[in-house]
Amino acid sequence: MSVCYIDIIDKCNLRCSACPRGLRLLKNSTESMSIDLFKKVVEKAKAEGYDEIGIYNWTEPFLSKALPEYISVVKEFGLFCDVTSNLSLKPQEHFDTIEQSLVAGIDHLAVSVSGYGQAVYEVNHVGGNISWVKQNLERIAQLRRDGNISSARISLRFLKFDYNIEEESVLKEYANSLGLDFEVIDGMGHPNNPVTSYVSEEDSVILYNSEEDFLNKLKNFTPSRIYEKNREICFLIMDTVSIDCKGDVYLCCAYPNYSSLRIGAYLEIPKDDILLKRYTHPVCTSCPFPRRKATESDCKALVGALQSRLGNSNKLQDEYTQNIEPLPKSGAEVKFSKPKLPGYLSVSGLSIAESWGRWSNGDKVILKFGSKLPAKFSLTISAMAYGPNAGEPVIVKAGNQTKEYKFGADVTRSLTSDFFPSVPVDAIEILIPKPTPTPSPSRDTRRLGLGFSSLSLRAIP
Ligand SMILES: C[S@@+](CC[C@H](N)C(=O)[O-])C[C@H]1O[C@@H](n2cnc3c(N)ncnc32)[C@H](O)[C@@H]1O
Ligand code: SF4
Ligand code: SF4
Repeated sequence: MSVCYIDIIDKCNLRCSACPRGLRLLKNSTESMSIDLFKKVVEKAKAEGYDEIGIYNWTEPFLSKALPEYISVVKEFGLFCDVTSNLSLKPQEHFDTIEQSLVAGIDHLAVSVSGYGQAVYEVNHVGGNISWVKQNLERIAQLRRDGNISSARISLRFLKFDYNIEEESVLKEYANSLGLDFEVIDGMGHPNNPVTSYVSEEDSVILYNSEEDFLNKLKNFTPSRIYEKNREICFLIMDTVSIDCKGDVYLCCAYPNYSSLRIGAYLEIPKDDILLKRYTHPVCTSCPFPRRKATESDCKALVGALQSRLGNSNKLQDEYTQNIEPLPKSGAEVKFSKPKLPGYLSVSGLSIAESWGRWSNGDKVILKFGSKLPAKFSLTISAMAYGPNAGEPVIVKAGNQTKEYKFGADVTRSLTSDFFPSVPVDAIEILIPKPTPTPSPSRDTRRLGLGFSSLSLRAIP
């Protein structure tokens, strides 16, 4: 599921010691998102493929008396509606909103707790009242028994820290007795350990640093994505987006909504641009959050985002080709060790220039020239083979005509064939027999075949 997290207000009643809102690193304010803006945000989220709206991120959603209206909007758009709450709210003042919100169509309500008894509960949930949480839960369970909110999934979410492990079984029993689901998640940060003191980039957990820490991080950032192996990606960047009550997108739901992490106004930025801005954000490139294997659709989304910024790659290639210079009458002399190839040639399937030449990368190399090749020509290729390509037939195609070349390993060999295709051509294709990954495919994702040092093409009179 792809989730769009939206804070419709800008406050929380509690001061949880492991949460940036609780620490008031994000200050409470009276701001809220208008229902009109919310509708537009949900409409865009749906159009962009999000199938779930989470009406929370760094706030307590039930503090908005209008929450049921927002939930109705989500349901009108046919999306899954997720709400997470501390539920530490005086029932006399808040239960009506809770009930109306459930009736309006919350699909999943998770209630976060960190203890069964008040003493343990308030270590993390500072300012909270576990008795109110229980009263609200028991009234919700009654609504369920009465059949008023039968479709909602309700779960008691236990935030597990080292000091509250003992509470897990009693909370589980309590959830079972009310017919609620029970889930356990590892609490991040530690209530006894103020999170503002965690500043190291090396720590392998997400840290809710102060905004100054982030600004320092930006000064020292590294673009090398040191925590991300090749073929890995963060699921938060691909599958989620976080929006505050002003309608602004922020880096991701793992970090506080600091101004340095603001991406821009959600309604004004296309999804592709949001993805690129987040992916290239200095905090994201240096972030230690665990990654997952990248999927084909991740790859398509990122490549697609670049394409929509730069234009369609095939079209660009055509434009580029149109601009390349015509082939000189004397023919072509190409040294592949040169960083800049001649203006009459565009290539695909070759790696960057090295002191001796260039490796092929992938199944084929295409050499496209700025004008038609002579009707008859000789083609000399100087190359060496990589690994299992040694001695294998290399098919070289010019239109309908193919010739075979064979290269040895480690030593460059120059081979010549004559071509006289039935119709004039402007390109030569070289099919690599056995494209082979390098010894460290996690760092170098190329598949090598031939090492080209030079090429010579001459008209045959
Ligand atoms: C910041 S809260 C906001 C919603 C609501 N105020 C609440 O506490 O559930 C968003 C999510 O973070 C989770 N959460 C809160 N404190 C956490 C912690 N220390 N470690 C891991 N998750 C936490 C909550 O369970 C909730 O799912
Ligand atoms: S209740 Fe939720 S938003 Fe509020 S301080 Fe605790 S974790 Fe943060
Ligand atoms: S890598 Fe870090 S900053 Fe980037 S999306 Fe994931 S958690 Fe957020």
